[in-house]
Amino acid sequence: VHCSENPEGALSWIGKLAPKKKGRKDKAPAQTAVEPVQNGAFGGSDLRSVRRPASRPPLPGFRSTAGDQLDRRLTDRFSNIRMRLRSAFTPSQPVTDRRMFAGRSEVLATLIRSIEDQRQHTVIYGERGIGKTSLLHVLEMAAREARYVVVYISCGAGSNFEEMIRAVAGEIPLLYHTGYGPTASETERGGTFADLIPPGSISALQASDLFARIKGTRVLVVIDEFDRCDSGELRRNMAELMKNLSDRSVRVQLVISGVASDLTELLDHIPSIRRNVYALQIPKMSSAELRELVKIGEDASGITFDEDALELIVTVSQGLPYLSALLSHHAGMNAVEETRLNVTISDVSLAIADALDELKSRISRRSQSHLAQYVSQGSLRQLGALASIAQAGDGRFDLGTLEASKLGSVMTARCETVLASLVADGVLVESEEDEMGQHYHFREDGVAQYMVLLAAKERFFESRERPATEKSTAPAAEPRLNAS
Ligand SMILES: Nc1ncnc2c1ncn2[C@@H]1O[C@H](COP(=O)(O)OP(=O)(O)OP(=O)(O)O)[C@@H](O)[C@H]1O
Ligand SMILES: [Mg+2]
Repeated sequence: VHCSENPEGALSWIGKLAPKKKGRKDKAPAQTAVEPVQNGAFGGSDLRSVRRPASRPPLPGFRSTAGDQLDRRLTDRFSNIRMRLRSAFTPSQPVTDRRMFAGRSEVLATLIRSIEDQRQHTVIYGERGIGKTSLLHVLEMAAREARYVVVYISCGAGSNFEEMIRAVAGEIPLLYHTGYGPTASETERGGTFADLIPPGSISALQASDLFARIKGTRVLVVIDEFDRCDSGELRRNMAELMKNLSDRSVRVQLVISGVASDLTELLDHIPSIRRNVYALQIPKMSSAELRELVKIGEDASGITFDEDALELIVTVSQGLPYLSALLSHHAGMNAVEETRLNVTISDVSLAIADALDELKSRISRRSQSHLAQYVSQGSLRQLGALASIAQAGDGRFDLGTLEASKLGSVMTARCETVLASLVADGVLVESEEDEMGQHYHFREDGVAQYMVLLAAKERFFESRERPATEKSTAPAAEPRLNAS
């Protein structure tokens, strides 16, 4: 099926695919006034024949085609801006366009130096939404420019070592094999290293033997979402492979990324490979970096954010680019709905409410009602603080982390009381004990992010509502939990 992006031809193929029902005439009753449904507005001639009685309001339709052509009947300058906003802030997709990538220069430089200068394997880790995948995409582009062969793999629960090695080998042309030159017939036929792997399972040693034959290029294997793989064997094999590759100075380097609070959580067999691996925790983005993220979106969309609107986004995002992108997107859309080209603090407030609704809808009803109970008891700040600590460490935290968070003795004590109550309730927080001692985690993934945003929003508006005199005489604000 060919789908044209020409506005005249776009979508016209849909009508051709629609199954025709026998014995039924798709015709409106003779006397009924009809109007074309919105779908026809892109110019798809076949769809124009689909009618809906004028007495009924039109069903909502898409406002632009898959080829990013605007609905001609809705075209005004705001439709265009709305469309640009969709790609200016993409909270549900990693950044893949370098022009849209904000900040992170230092992290990227460190990553590249470790790969290029020290020839190390790298493990990057950090909390959900901190920007790992986006960073990997930018790294990938930089490596391709430097003529590395780059293989990007996104892990899933069922990923296994053999498949991964075959996928990597399948991307390396035989041209770079010590045993085959550019003129070998296998090379000319487009053969790859995968052709040299016999059927059956493959060990880390065999994989490193194979990759040891690479010459004339370097291969960067980027493995994302490593935390999603549940195979201990895959983790062990990866660790083994890294060690073997390093010991033999093979021209293959791995970059492994995942949600974790430390390196050990991502890889088994750490002691044996610690020396061969550079571990990099992706920090929260600074306020300046988050401002840059919004500025890039402003330039790309043509809308501007008022200073207090921007400040609110940066404050409540708590260093998470995901939250900044989400709020900027919603706030921008709110402004456009009101045919404004500037985003106000009210747009951001509405955006926070939208985002909170979105995050809340991912939480079970039981958790929602417990959260509401704690909030009504006045424990929102403590919940927010605990959630923020949990998020900073892949969901797990202990009392030591709480004390190290420099919340002040009073707040720390209050947090401990709330934590004890949460554990006793057993709904929101679970307590576990292992060889490392007692630790805690929020039972549901989305609860912590929801609480962090809710508490940050309350704090922001509280601080704005406090009169200026009170602000100046009030005790110093509690230190923020996050580096940003
Ligand atoms: N440097 C950046 N510049 C602009 N936007 C960014 C940047 N980093 C992240 N984002 C935004 O934050 C969102 C989350 O980023 P990303 O998907 O890279 O995070 P992640 O750490 O891989 O998340 P997860 O743990 O869920 O896989 C993206 O949708 C993107 O919009
Ligand atoms: Mg990711």
